[in-house]
Amino acid sequence: MPKWIAKPFARPYVAGETFDEALVQVKTINDHGFSATIDILGEHVTNIDKARSITNQYCDLYRQIDINQLDCNISIKPTHVGLFISLAEAMANIASILESAKNYNNFLRLDMENSLYTDQTFELFKHCKSTYKNVGVVIQSYLHRSLEDAKQLSAIDFNARICKGIYQEAETIAFQGSEEIKENFMTLARALSAKGAYAGYATHDQDLIDQLLAWIESENIPPDKFEFQVLYGVPMAGRLEELRNQGYKIRVYVPFGPDWFDYSLRRLKENPDIVGYVIKNMFKNE
Ligand code: FDA
Repeated sequence: MPKWIAKPFARPYVAGETFDEALVQVKTINDHGFSATIDILGEHVTNIDKARSITNQYCDLYRQIDINQLDCNISIKPTHVGLFISLAEAMANIASILESAKNYNNFLRLDMENSLYTDQTFELFKHCKSTYKNVGVVIQSYLHRSLEDAKQLSAIDFNARICKGIYQEAETIAFQGSEEIKENFMTLARALSAKGAYAGYATHDQDLIDQLLAWIESENIPPDKFEFQVLYGVPMAGRLEELRNQGYKIRVYVPFGPDWFDYSLRRLKENPDIVGYVIKNMFKNE
């Protein structure tokens, strides 16, 4: 699909191409009572200079978040800052980003990419965690291995986002049925809670949110041990405001940057209905 065709479809999911555009969106999100996490779009960087330039941009982003007094942390894809080049390159770059996060009293989340990178991402995480407190990772409920990973990684101040997982994975390593993936999401939520870990429940699935809420209420899970997380632009039919009004913490994942194309195509494949919605809006605007 040419970029000029894709752009109107991407717009709901991407908070602009520049720092300034993204920070304006984060401010609006904060003004509505939600936290944010910001991500510069891109992955699989093969060029060392580019990986280092992205690293510097992330370091600067912490400074800008601080100057603008935003309630916002940062999420990164390890292959965007060097993991596609080597583990050592990613480690060095992520250490720089974490140093900046520490200076500004902020937090870094390592997103989880496809299963080729799962071991290395956990290795990076463990390495970072040995020096820095302010770092978390992601656990995907579609992977068979995730419960074991959650148990092994959980420590008193473990912080994990739980999500279903967005990549195509083989049935030898990943659940394929939506019910199994949801069940495993709940199992992971319980496992992390049992270990005293902090969890970000990242889902738009209303039924799963209902299940989480029922469990949170019945088990009296302390509100400082979890948050709900959603992607920027995904319609939630008033649910976020409802959760916020009930006193729950919500964080919106805000992706931005010139490399918006692949990300938007993934979102589009996930919800082809958005095409109709965007076309309707285009005609409305004329
Ligand atoms: P599901 O796919 O069942 O969607 C539930 C409902 O939401 C459906 O009605 C669907 O139409 C709607 N919906 C979902 N996505 C939509 C979209 N893009 N546009 C419009 N409607 C949509 N994955 C990963 O592998 N590694 C990661 O690091 C992350 N990080 C991450 C952070 C955050 C904050 C979120 C919310 C998600 C991720 N993901 C992720 C993606 C995640 O793994 C998963 O693929 C998507 O969230 C979709 O799964 P749901 O749980 O939302 O349910």
